[in-house]
Amino acid sequence: MDIKSVQDFEKGIKRVLITEEQIKNAIKEAGKEIDKLYDGRPILLVSILKGAFVFMADLARAVSVPCEIGFMCAKSYYNGTSSCGVVQITMDLEQNVKDYHVVIVEDIIDTGRTLNDVCKALRTRNPISLHVVTLLDKPSRRIVEFEPDISLFTIEDHFVIGYGLDCAEYYRNLPYIAEFNNEKL
Ligand code: IMP
Ligand code: MG
Repeated sequence: MDIKSVQDFEKGIKRVLITEEQIKNAIKEAGKEIDKLYDGRPILLVSILKGAFVFMADLARAVSVPCEIGFMCAKSYYNGTSSCGVVQITMDLEQNVKDYHVVIVEDIIDTGRTLNDVCKALRTRNPISLHVVTLLDKPSRRIVEFEPDISLFTIEDHFVIGYGLDCAEYYRNLPYIAEFNNEKL
């Protein structure tokens, strides 16, 4: 994909799948669910960069339990729009998770490889507890068995963009989730 103009950029947006309003409402509910789960206990929200940075900003403001924020960068290597199975932690968390109830905040679970690897790595550090919240889930694409504790939207097998999710680093700033137009631009 080679975006050289606004027209190229706009051609990549096929149709809106989830509106800003739907995302906002679902996050409000997820915040309540997290509050209930931890019942006043402090938590560490860990955002998996880069895709989850927008979701993290909104989810953090929807929870009322005391929370610290942490970031980790996990890169799954993509061959166009399909994962080729290599996951690398390129930036690690600064907190020592053994002192925390950890909540991983992810943008989307696709093959399941990224979160499977990230959770495995974090579990070896003995957090008090570990849960996963994902904005989107594409269960039909799973290669590695993985179930999130909280999932806001289940979607079909589309490549999606917006609200933090990218295609070749573009579209992260769209306020909604859209299906990507894979036809040649
Ligand atoms: P997994 O390791 O295959 O589960 O892929 C997880 C990562 O791939 C996500 O955190 C995203 O960064 C990326 N990804 C998977 N599906 C999509 C998509 O439809 N649009 C944008 N990024 C995606
Ligand atoms: Mg991601």
